[in-house]
Amino acid sequence: MRHLLGTEAMSLETAVLILDTAEEMAATQERAIRKLPVLRGHTVATLFFEDSTRTRLSFETAARRLSMDVISFSARGSSVSKGESLKDTAQTICAMGAEALIVRHRADGAPHRLANAGWVDVPILNAGDGRHQHPTQALLDAMTIRRHLHCGGNRRAPQGSTLAGAKVAIVGDILHSRVARSNLDLLTALGAEVTLVGPPTLLPVGIDDWPARIAYDFDAVLDEDLDAVMMLRVQHERMSSGGGGYFPSASEYEKVYGLDSARLARLKKEAIVMHPGPMNRGLEITAHAADSSRSVVAEQVANGVCVRMAALYLLLAHGQEIDA
Ligand code: NCD
Repeated sequence: MRHLLGTEAMSLETAVLILDTAEEMAATQERAIRKLPVLRGHTVATLFFEDSTRTRLSFETAARRLSMDVISFSARGSSVSKGESLKDTAQTICAMGAEALIVRHRADGAPHRLANAGWVDVPILNAGDGRHQHPTQALLDAMTIRRHLHCGGNRRAPQGSTLAGAKVAIVGDILHSRVARSNLDLLTALGAEVTLVGPPTLLPVGIDDWPARIAYDFDAVLDEDLDAVMMLRVQHERMSSGGGGYFPSASEYEKVYGLDSARLARLKKEAIVMHPGPMNRGLEITAHAADSSRSVVAEQVANGVCVRMAALYLLLAHGQEIDA
């Protein structure tokens, strides 16, 4: 693996290798001292051209847990506002010694361009590009589902295990969601059955060709013995008209597609409720559902650090022992 750009073409073997490595990382995080010396002296940079709370902090935490130095770049307040390009910014940061770039960008394909244009010669990790891909989010979601499927969530999933037989519903604003796209590719590769649920206005053109079942009736899907329900944020900032036109009103959306107490109660006992964050409480998910014992949002965040440690390790440590 040279880069981590997306999950579209990720093989089952690669997916399982990353998840197994993330589990090994998780085991190291139970120790009193959580920092591993394995990438000491190496430098990674986070290049965020779009806002983020958890993805950026998670990547930076993961890098520090591997003893890396982190160069942290945000477009806001930088020379990007003076017109500096992605190419010049990346080359500048590599000239400061970055050995890998973690990139978030509003344009679909920006990390792929960095990886393939020959501007820089370091591994690129996609931290979310436009509506396209968000591979580490999909991996942390897969890790969370795998743990629950095989051992109730709080213990390590068996090495080599997949998601064969798991039923997952991804619900809401599929149109604008890189999380939905990345998850669909990865969960399917791992053997899960995925149903995408949303209003027709929030499903992209051409979705019938995606390897998923499409549904408009959330209540009908809830009757299907789901293992996980992944609620998506309504992405107001990507709706040019501020939400107008995609659905009649916030209260109508909540009534038809929101996860509330009544819908929560219809899930089987072991089913989990997921959300990538940030949540619009009271829109796609009620506070009660978000804070219920079925909600694994905090586990998703914790697993995110392990998955990102695994990704950095696999791209940069070249076969060194995790405990080295
Ligand atoms: C997601 C993203 O940025 O794509 N959030 C995240 O990375 N945790 C989902 C979202 O913004 O709704």
